Amino acid sequence: MTDPVRVRELGRGASATVYEAVHRGARVAFKVLDDPGPHERAAFERVRGLAHAGLAGMREWIDGAGFTMDLVEGGVDVLTWVRGAPPDVVPVGRPNISLAFGQRQQPEGTSAYTSCDPVGVARLRGALVQLIEALHYMHGASILHGDLRPSNVLVTAEGRVTLLDFGLSRAHDDASSYEASTAYGPPEVVPSPHADWYALGTIVFECLTGQLPFLGSAQHVLVTKATVPPPSPSFLVAGVPGDLDALTMGLLSRNLRVRIVAVDTYRRGLLSSTHP
Ligand SMILES: Nc1ncnc2c1ncn2[C@@H]1O[C@H](COP(=O)(O)OP(=O)(O)O)[C@@H](O)[C@H]1O
Ligand SMILES: [Mg+2]
Repeated sequence: MTDPVRVRELGRGASATVYEAVHRGARVAFKVLDDPGPHERAAFERVRGLAHAGLAGMREWIDGAGFTMDLVEGGVDVLTWVRGAPPDVVPVGRPNISLAFGQRQQPEGTSAYTSCDPVGVARLRGALVQLIEALHYMHGASILHGDLRPSNVLVTAEGRVTLLDFGLSRAHDDASSYEASTAYGPPEVVPSPHADWYALGTIVFECLTGQLPFLGSAQHVLVTKATVPPPSPSFLVAGVPGDLDALTMGLLSRNLRVRIVAVDTYRRGLLSSTHP
């Protein structure tokens, strides 16, 4: 078996490096895992049969290295995509502080929005429809994404969304291998599709406000998200559309059922409205 020929590095994550490569005459993405063991291979085999326009197609397991998948050309993460036309941005340290929720510290080098950008909202809506479809398809195949965060949601210049890294680290009912990331993971510990909806809520919140729903140290974030709701996007940013505000708060609910209802309500709203 010939190994993929690496062309250039696309990015490096916590446990892998991804390259653009050529394999069997095609340009592919080659994910080289730091530790490509049997668990990783089993996860790859589990998701390899998934085929959906919103998912990067899995291609081939490469022994001792990792796997190849469809290359997403010219993609940027969903936050970068939505922020393409920068809205009214507040420099770090400027107000955006709520007495009701305590001092909300912005991470160094980022900024939060004070008003909602219509171009960004339109981009978010376009990405959301595709994200929701892809998640429904995946859950229908009994695969939990398990690691939904902006760097695993790439958007091309035409606005086409591709999900990456779905189901690769853990499966439904595999509580022992479940590791919720502090920022995007849900407050509950039992893994289920509801965790993906929660992570989607975090992404939508971030797209609308320019900041995460819960700020502070990792421990503070974990305790807070398990005990109190986040501020609503409309509380932080002027002009957030009501349906997106409701969707975000529903997805970030600690009540799993409320998350599903929020998605269904948003989808029904799309069918009956003139939103793009
Ligand atoms: N199929 C792909 N096509 C294009 N770029 C990719 C693909 N898969 C991953 N990447 C890029 O490689 C980077 C590293 O990926 P990864 O190792 O999963 O870490 P992370 O998701 O934490 O960034 C990603 O941020 C993404 O930009
Ligand atoms: Mg990734």
